[in-house]
Amino acid sequence: MAERTPSRQQPDSFEWSPENKSWCEEQIKKFPEGRQASAVIPFLWRAQKQEGWVSIAAMETIAKQLDMPYIRVYEVATFYTMFNLKPVGKYYVQLCGTTPCMLRGAEDLVEVCKDVIGPQNTITPSGNLSWIEVECLGACCNAPMVQINDYYYQDLTPEIFRDILMKLDRGEYVEPGVFNDGRHTSDPEGENTTLTSDEIYKGEQAKPLTKLPNTDAA
Ligand code: FES
Repeated sequence: MAERTPSRQQPDSFEWSPENKSWCEEQIKKFPEGRQASAVIPFLWRAQKQEGWVSIAAMETIAKQLDMPYIRVYEVATFYTMFNLKPVGKYYVQLCGTTPCMLRGAEDLVEVCKDVIGPQNTITPSGNLSWIEVECLGACCNAPMVQINDYYYQDLTPEIFRDILMKLDRGEYVEPGVFNDGRHTSDPEGENTTLTSDEIYKGEQAKPLTKLPNTDAA
């Protein structure tokens, strides 16, 4: 579980980029007067997209914009683990350590992270990488996998993962996706083993009911 305490190193201020400032103004218009606080999650998310993490100064700015107590913004930001309360690397690696990924080798990927990046929440000297272990990311059929920023890197081996991290740390782009040459997305490896009859796609196996189920008993 990610540590949910804000960084001790905080910037003095936060400012929206001009583009995000106009985005905020548009969002606020979507809510009736007095209900702007409902926009707190998208605002926090936008702040994180802009800075990579959510600082105390960003929370204070959002509280003023949405006319809500600062502590309410703080409660939301510290509750949801998707909000980073500390700076992260340019490429933020979220490594799934839940059972399917663990059974398929996630622990070996953790060792790669420790070796290439360091302990969780460490940022590499290049500023490019940091990592954290998270719970299931919903891509169990391509375990083990990681999320790097907004994208999934799946069917990883320690060797492939190490190579990805090294490239990203050098600032090279790595296309996300499935890293198993014998597999297309989450299809089975090799031949399909189920739903192989063409007939099922023509609807010919669906027979109409000749008699409705007996509902008279009641
Ligand atoms: S267990 Fe890793 S994606 Fe579900």
